[in-house]
Amino acid sequence: MTVPLPVELQALAAETRTITVLTGAGMSAESGVPTFRDAQTGLWARVDPADLATPHAWESDPALVWAWYQWRAGLVRRAQPNDGHFALARWAAHADVRVVTQNVDDLHERAGSEVASHLHGSLFAPRCSECGTPADSVEPLDDPVERLDPPDCDRCGGLIRPGAVWFGEAMPSEPLERAMECAQTCDLMLVVGTSGVVYPAAGLPGLAREAGATVVEINPEPTGISEQADHVWRTTAAVGLELLAPR
Ligand code: OAD
Repeated sequence: MTVPLPVELQALAAETRTITVLTGAGMSAESGVPTFRDAQTGLWARVDPADLATPHAWESDPALVWAWYQWRAGLVRRAQPNDGHFALARWAAHADVRVVTQNVDDLHERAGSEVASHLHGSLFAPRCSECGTPADSVEPLDDPVERLDPPDCDRCGGLIRPGAVWFGEAMPSEPLERAMECAQTCDLMLVVGTSGVVYPAAGLPGLAREAGATVVEINPEPTGISEQADHVWRTTAAVGLELLAPR
């Protein structure tokens, strides 16, 4: 699909020196990682997140929760960064590009970007559920299994938990503070592939705008962010960013 680059965006991209990019699941869709809310392909269509991505689920059935996250880790391990991830990495040679992502995958890093904030944690940063000690015990699965016992912490014997943030759980303050700082100190905020329904991430474009930044949305569908954006480009992450990023 060839989508012309709007001229006003071309000029913005070429001139702006400080750019914060807020990414969501749509950023990785063209890498084959399902989004959360897309009706037919979303992970949510097959599993109820309320059963799996909550502290309550972990307390009642840690092996079910651990198995689900290790299956997602396997899916991401087999995926490759797409043209959009690579375009953002390339852009960093021309401007101060800060990536703030809601994604728990590592496709930005594998494309060569330094990620300023993983707002919702990472599939690849498990830690002890008791003492918080980081663990290196990700066990990516090729095929889903219903249950997999999580390993024990070497230090205290507690269960190792996934490094993702769960619904109903406080977000760690450091990534949130970094994300807010990136939003409040940029000249351009690109919002790519997020439905803009999960806070506090969905509030970051508003913060950027209040601080004087231009907000541009790249998403094939309208979202909760669209109305606050200065420019909306209905294209995909891989197509849009590849055209937008300077060479
Ligand atoms: P969603 O699944 O809610 O939204 C995905 C967005 O990506 C939608 O707006 C799609 O239109 C868009 N999209 C689909 N394909 C795309 C493509 N190729 N290029 C660009 N955009 C595309 O995912 P998020 O907004 O990331 O949180 O969801 C936010 C949070 O909700 C997630 O981080 C997760 C979830 O619950 C936690 O797990 C805490």
